[in-house]
Amino acid sequence: MLIREASHDDWPRIWPFWHRIVSAGETYAWDPGTSEEVARALWMNPAKQVYVVEGDTSTVVASAYLTPNYGGPAAGIANAGFMVDPDRAGRGVGRRLAEHVVAEARAAGYRGMVFNAVVETNPAVALWTSLGFTILGTVPEAFDHPRHGLVGLHIMYRAL
Ligand SMILES: CC(C)(COP(=O)(O)OP(=O)(O)OC[C@H]1O[C@@H](n2cnc3c(N)ncnc32)[C@H](O)[C@@H]1OP(=O)(O)O)[C@@H](O)C(=O)NCCC(=O)NCCS
Repeated sequence: MLIREASHDDWPRIWPFWHRIVSAGETYAWDPGTSEEVARALWMNPAKQVYVVEGDTSTVVASAYLTPNYGGPAAGIANAGFMVDPDRAGRGVGRRLAEHVVAEARAAGYRGMVFNAVVETNPAVALWTSLGFTILGTVPEAFDHPRHGLVGLHIMYRAL
């Protein structure tokens, strides 16, 4: 499994699973109807460090971004986002990618990492907790989940 920085050419291979994940409306606080153009601007934003995971035949099976969560004097706190192709989920890719991004953030000098909006029903909460993140608080009934109804959004943090 190769984890490398993304190039612009990777976007067409990220978009299919990006679209599948966001249009499901279960995990990200983005419009499920987000167009490809807007999605590209969100994910491949020049302010973000973007990573991809290559599968066996140079396919892209996952992507992540790393960016400052705040500006100015608080720019030492990172934010990151993760997406694994649902067809490749549950096989350790997300854990490996998250460990890589945490290490990259630390190497870049970030002092901590924050996830601003982790849907409380997302199995990813267990992954983040196992990687040392704690729930700082929960915004109640913030996210309208297609199956669970109104659920909370966790703010999660770990020092680096
Ligand atoms: C969350 C996500 C990045 C995890 O990637 P993954 O490759 O599926 O996860 P892994 O196979 O590395 O599993 C890591 C851990 O995640 C948890 N996990 C992942 N999927 C799970 C599921 N469907 N049910 C229960 N636990 C799950 C487990 O705690 C697992 O622990 P283990 O390593 O001890 O088995 C991926 O499922 C994904 O892209 N989901 C949709 C987008 C999303 O939710 N992003 C995160 C937003 S906060």
